Amino acid sequence: MEKKNIDWSNLGFAYMQTDKRYVSNYKDGAWDEGTLTSDANIVLNECACVLQYAQTCFEGLKAYTTEDGHIVTFRPDLNAQRMASSAKRLEMPVFPEDRFVEAVHKVVEANAAYVPPYGSGATLYIRPYMFGSNSVIGVKPAEEYQFRVFTTPVGPYFKGGAKPITIRVCDYDRAAPHGTGHVKAGLNYAMSLYAIVDAHEKGFDENMYLDSATRTKVEETGGANFLFVTKDNTVVTPKSPTILPSITRRSLLYVAEHYLGLKTEEREVYMDEVKDFAECGLCGTAAVISPVGKIVDHDREICFPSGMEKMGPVIQKLYDTLTGIQMGHIEAPEGWIHKIC
Ligand code: PLP
Ligand code: COI
Repeated sequence: MEKKNIDWSNLGFAYMQTDKRYVSNYKDGAWDEGTLTSDANIVLNECACVLQYAQTCFEGLKAYTTEDGHIVTFRPDLNAQRMASSAKRLEMPVFPEDRFVEAVHKVVEANAAYVPPYGSGATLYIRPYMFGSNSVIGVKPAEEYQFRVFTTPVGPYFKGGAKPITIRVCDYDRAAPHGTGHVKAGLNYAMSLYAIVDAHEKGFDENMYLDSATRTKVEETGGANFLFVTKDNTVVTPKSPTILPSITRRSLLYVAEHYLGLKTEEREVYMDEVKDFAECGLCGTAAVISPVGKIVDHDREICFPSGMEKMGPVIQKLYDTLTGIQMGHIEAPEGWIHKIC
């Protein structure tokens, strides 16, 4: 299979239309058999539930070219599980988890020419999503839905790649107690748009959200979980019922313990203790691990000892091990790698 003529090493995190996408429709209480299509557009009624009441959720995962030339995805079963929990919270029918993994497989296979080559620094981002598609004007769930999966080749989420970023403590909230912060609902992202535009205008790369009940604890950013490293090399991640359960973060905790022999803690992290950490990073599918060099908390600046030039040593080891597992030069734990071809 011949690869597309794309400047892989200079890709940003942006949408590029690829050849095929998957679509399955839900009607009269059942999903149809699903199919691949070349049509990237969706035609909806003006009163579709997704357009009026934002009944939509999504997932994000990546396909990688391994050192020995295979195409693989990373833990797609966990994305399937998380989408099922998002769907339940939003009163949407679950797209069966085994069919989710199969749909991702088919779309990646059909777009193999767009999977960036090994060593290019780019990957194929995969976006499964679903939405309420029939017209609804009273506030209630739709009766018809569409589940789709598209792909797009991407480079680093933050412009500087692996350069440390600067973030600010945000005065807006991302998620309410007992709200939808723990699921991947489109509405969580809609309400973060004002805050991210404001952050960018003020020169920050991202927002650090605090818990909205007490504003004393670290939650996450608009698109990634936090990872901290203490001065004695313990990896600490915030535990909260209102953050998204990141698959990258869960994988990194395993890597820290079982591959690197580090101590890990998943616990509440108070803003007051952040200044005592040695390293900080953001982790997620899009972010991979993006090092944070500085956090601006209103009139106070927290500068991590790892500095603004490169990743700290522990975060670098975590990054190398995780990407090594994904690219096939470090042996993966059982079931983490799904081979496409
Ligand atoms: N937190 C938020 C709000 C996200 O959007 C994402 C991205 O999916 C993550 C965390 C990271 O999750 P994952 O590692 O499963 O991609
Ligand atoms: C992902 O990492 O897959 C996300 O959905 C985050 C988003 C900011 C692109």
